Amino acid sequence: MNCSAEPPSRSLTVYPSGKKASFTPGTPFNEVVKSIARPPHMPCGGKGRCGKCKVLFKEGAPSPTPTETAVLTETELAQGYRLACQTILDGDAVVYLHDHKIAQGEKILATGVTRAVPLNPWVTKRFARVPEPSSGDLRSDMDRVNEVLGVSPHGGNVHLEHVRSIPGILREAEFRITGVFAGPELVTIEPGDTSSECFGVAFDIGTTTLAGYLVDLNTGTQVGVASAVNPQTRVGDDVISRINYVGEHLDGLKHLQSLVVSEMNRLVARMVRQANIRPENIYESVVVGNTCMTHLLLGVDPRNLALAPYVPVFSQSLTVEAAEIGLKINNSGQVHILPNIAGYVGADTVGTILASSIHEDDSIVLAVDIGTNGEIVLGSRNLLLACSTAAGPAFEGAHITHGMRAAPGAIDRVWVENGDIRFTTVGNHRPTGICGSGLLDAIACLLEVGIIHPGGRILDSSEVPQNHARLKNRLVNGGFVLSSAEQSAHGVPIAITQRDIREVQLAKGAIAAGIRTLMEYLKVRVDDLSAVVLAGAFGNYMRKRSAIAAGLIPDVPVSKVRSVGNAAGEGAKLALISSEERRVAEEIARFVQYIELTTDPGFQDRFAESLAFGSWPGSGSS
Ligand code: FES
Repeated sequence: MNCSAEPPSRSLTVYPSGKKASFTPGTPFNEVVKSIARPPHMPCGGKGRCGKCKVLFKEGAPSPTPTETAVLTETELAQGYRLACQTILDGDAVVYLHDHKIAQGEKILATGVTRAVPLNPWVTKRFARVPEPSSGDLRSDMDRVNEVLGVSPHGGNVHLEHVRSIPGILREAEFRITGVFAGPELVTIEPGDTSSECFGVAFDIGTTTLAGYLVDLNTGTQVGVASAVNPQTRVGDDVISRINYVGEHLDGLKHLQSLVVSEMNRLVARMVRQANIRPENIYESVVVGNTCMTHLLLGVDPRNLALAPYVPVFSQSLTVEAAEIGLKINNSGQVHILPNIAGYVGADTVGTILASSIHEDDSIVLAVDIGTNGEIVLGSRNLLLACSTAAGPAFEGAHITHGMRAAPGAIDRVWVENGDIRFTTVGNHRPTGICGSGLLDAIACLLEVGIIHPGGRILDSSEVPQNHARLKNRLVNGGFVLSSAEQSAHGVPIAITQRDIREVQLAKGAIAAGIRTLMEYLKVRVDDLSAVVLAGAFGNYMRKRSAIAAGLIPDVPVSKVRSVGNAAGEGAKLALISSEERRVAEEIARFVQYIELTTDPGFQDRFAESLAFGSWPGSGSS
């Protein structure tokens, strides 16, 4: 008997495609499936915590692992559900992949509130007729180009490609050329008069979504916009999952960089089609993003961001050649990344401050961008403080029983009318789950009618007053049913469970404690706030009243709360069209004082106090 013989190979068939792959027993499911299908979305980075990578084994379900037994219900296990990130294949199997593709029609915010600034882009073009050489003018080609374009003949680096291109372009275009400048530097020349074709692209690289804006640098007008889910979400929803991925995979950093750059190139392709221009007409990209995202974009190792004392590799603004990172714009194009403030307060926060002008405000303004990390800025023109707090992905639908992103079918608005729950869904589809804004609304409603105690407990139906009979009927198995099985798209009831409420409390507690910490540093009370600015997608879609009722933000009058949409992206656009705004962005990054919450002695107490729903200390109503 040959004991070293290879074990016989087995076959995995996946539906809906019907594709097959062979494998050796003992191989992880994800390893096998990736050769024939895109592996499921893995919000927790494959740690077996979120339960969102469920797949359905129609045949050959392997024995559940201890993690699967802990995360999945008995019914799910019996039906053949397993976690793609945990399950190990041991025999022939037939699997239905859940719909893990990026949802079509997902709500991605690409617009924001901004302000008008004088047009003064870093990249400019200048047309010129160059004197031809003659026996009386023996200057070099480069000297005559520099002189006519007003470029200093001394010093500075030159791009070798630029030098090489000069003789051909001059003669091909009969000495009529256009110079392309980045600030004072001549980066390239083009044949003929191309001065009317000068474009730039601004990007906001979020952990969850990417937004791109194509701008005509001659007019400052936006001529294209496109957005997409950040494809890095395939390996995890939050920055820690991405950092872990880099640490755990040999090519992890390269892979994540290539995922984001490929998506940026797709966005560029969409935008140039909208504007009917060529990618070569784009000469610069200004990018904002959180510190981890900008590190990953440049292929810079972000792992120290996850290790105390959480130091980034770079925090200043950086300009690199677009070709160096694979961004397909003009060959001489550059990518300028706005500065970071700290490891967890990135260039996106600088962009938000720039676009919303908090740094110029005389009175105290609070700005909050709620994502998997909540970035919080508080202060005025005299002093601005910033911090970052780990809110987790609850408001993005992860770790919530029926949670989902704001894709078609997500319950996004909830209210009480005639004694019962009413809701709307994204795209008016039949409900398939609940997204962050719907979750917050539902909690605010249930707090108001007394079905959720301010401490977070869902009341037993026997404790609910008789005048709420309809709402009371929705209390089933300790959860609150928003949509019945008959009403919902998948034939299962969509409910909020006690565990969901606890997840929201953790997220809400982290945000509120971060805000309170900055308020204590600045010695301001709720009544001192002149405005509360909500940035980002969640801040845009959530109902202000619900955010206040749940105690997510201070209980200021609703009129003081304003949503500024994707202000980070608007900040990137400002820096694209105005060198002055770019300079101000540098100043903002230096001016803002970063407060590290993990070492703040009072933060944990404030966090514990902030877990309860309700009003704020220091407010008129507290
Ligand atoms: S449980 Fe598998 S990715 Fe979260």
